[in-house]
Amino acid sequence: MSYWPCLLVLLFSGCEATHFLGTVMTYYPKAAENGSFTVVLRYKTNFVRCLNLIWTCRSGACGNSVVLVNTVDAELSDEWCQNEGIMTRVVPSNNPFELQINGGNWIDNIFNINLWRAVTLVELRTRSDTGQANRSPQTTNIPAIRVPSNCPRNIDFLAFDPDGDRVECRYGLSSAGECNQCTGPPGVRLSPLCSLFYLPNTSSSVGAYPVQLVMEDFPIVAVNLSSTSGSQTFTSTSRISKIPFQFILRVDPAVPDCTQGLYLPEFLPPTPANRASLHTSINQPIEILISAHANISSVLELLFSGPHNSVQARRGPELFAVKWTPSEEEDGESHPFCFIVQATHNSTKYHSDLRCVVVTVGEAPDTTTTPATPSTLFSSTTLDTSTPTFQSTSLSTATEITTTPPPPPTSTSSL
Ligand SMILES: *[C@@H]1O[C@H](CO)[C@@H](O)[C@H](O)[C@H]1NC(C)=O
Ligand SMILES: *[C@@H]1O[C@H](CO)[C@@H](O)[C@H](O)[C@H]1NC(C)=O
Ligand SMILES: *[C@@H]1O[C@H](CO)[C@@H](O)[C@H](O)[C@H]1NC(C)=O
Ligand SMILES: *[C@@H]1O[C@H](CO)[C@@H](O)[C@H](O)[C@H]1NC(C)=O
Ligand SMILES: *[C@@H]1O[C@H](CO)[C@@H](O)[C@H](O)[C@H]1NC(C)=O
Repeated sequence: MSYWPCLLVLLFSGCEATHFLGTVMTYYPKAAENGSFTVVLRYKTNFVRCLNLIWTCRSGACGNSVVLVNTVDAELSDEWCQNEGIMTRVVPSNNPFELQINGGNWIDNIFNINLWRAVTLVELRTRSDTGQANRSPQTTNIPAIRVPSNCPRNIDFLAFDPDGDRVECRYGLSSAGECNQCTGPPGVRLSPLCSLFYLPNTSSSVGAYPVQLVMEDFPIVAVNLSSTSGSQTFTSTSRISKIPFQFILRVDPAVPDCTQGLYLPEFLPPTPANRASLHTSINQPIEILISAHANISSVLELLFSGPHNSVQARRGPELFAVKWTPSEEEDGESHPFCFIVQATHNSTKYHSDLRCVVVTVGEAPDTTTTPATPSTLFSSTTLDTSTPTFQSTSLSTATEITTTPPPPPTSTSSL
């Protein structure tokens, strides 16, 4: 197996230092100009050090791109660093094309894999239902998620689609070149609605496992896609675009007690509910407050993934804030923010659940199911933490006052 792509893509480091922990890529089309099309692709690259990588054209006319790279978050003990690349790509037509990364290696001591590969299928043809170019599913993730080997855990990934499509997750296929060795972790169950259920079993082995998923958007009703060349493709309700969603699952040694709030940190108010949707407008900062507690371990840090220009602050031993100010370019877009609180005890790291929220830029949507909520609620610099009395057992309602209803729950399993 040739290692040349590694030398090509990692300009500032040797191959031995690459130490990959997965990637995620999403895209938003921009207005067409001069007969060419512009698409903004956002990708996260997860390495031990803060590195970028270069996506190459795999099929179709990929055009030219300009890329800006910035760091999103780095784990305190240098376990990983996540960078965000914002790639503005101008393509000659709105016909589909594919981008890929291809290289090595994953982190040391990872189960049964060496080389990495990920593929994005960009579909920009005009949809008959929206009259606009297709937008990809939107998501993000933390590079490595820890679960103690003896505790069942449901990891609910954020997966939503700005066109209202149904988003499904599946494992990458070697036959489609979606990963290099499409191995997955043993003892876990993936729901097509993008939750991963870790089920301890006597033969579950402690270690680091690659999780190499693909997310796809399926229209709810049949749509036609039309290209600038005039031809129409009847797509019915089949997959429109696809994005890679790759990360590491670390199965850690057993914890003495799986109860949340003892060793494993537990979210407290005013942390927003998982999959809450928040709103703000251009140049209006939005602040997300995140609190977590554990009786035995101590809260160490917030692990965060979202737009790189989010600003993190620690406000107390168990309180963090993430602030983001959208620019004009993000008008009308919805961006994912995901986080985990990491605690330690006796040099062992423990993760809270993964939580994610969606921040939509622009006016709060009119919905028939909820009373209109003033958008100023969301754009003030803090979420209101004084309203309803929160019971520690009903976290999921903690942010209802500031949200539209979260998307329907998609987990297939409850613990
Ligand atoms: C559009 O075309 C004009 C004339 O060729 C050129 O000056 C302009 O820079 C182009 N704009 C873009 C965004 O390519
Ligand atoms: C337990 O895990 C092993 C792999 O570690 C797997 O082969 C086996 O099917 C699992 N058993 C159950 C009951 O899930
Ligand atoms: C899709 O295109 C076909 C053929 O042009 C047409 O008959 C059909 O009505 C179109 N469907 C939609 C949803 O636009
Ligand atoms: C943590 O300690 C508090 C105070 O002693 C107690 O009320 C709470 O139940 C404990 N949490 C758990 C998960 O045992
Ligand atoms: C702390 O860790 C050490 C070694 O990792 C272990 O021997 C010891 O029992 C642990 N102590 C507690 C209180 O868990």
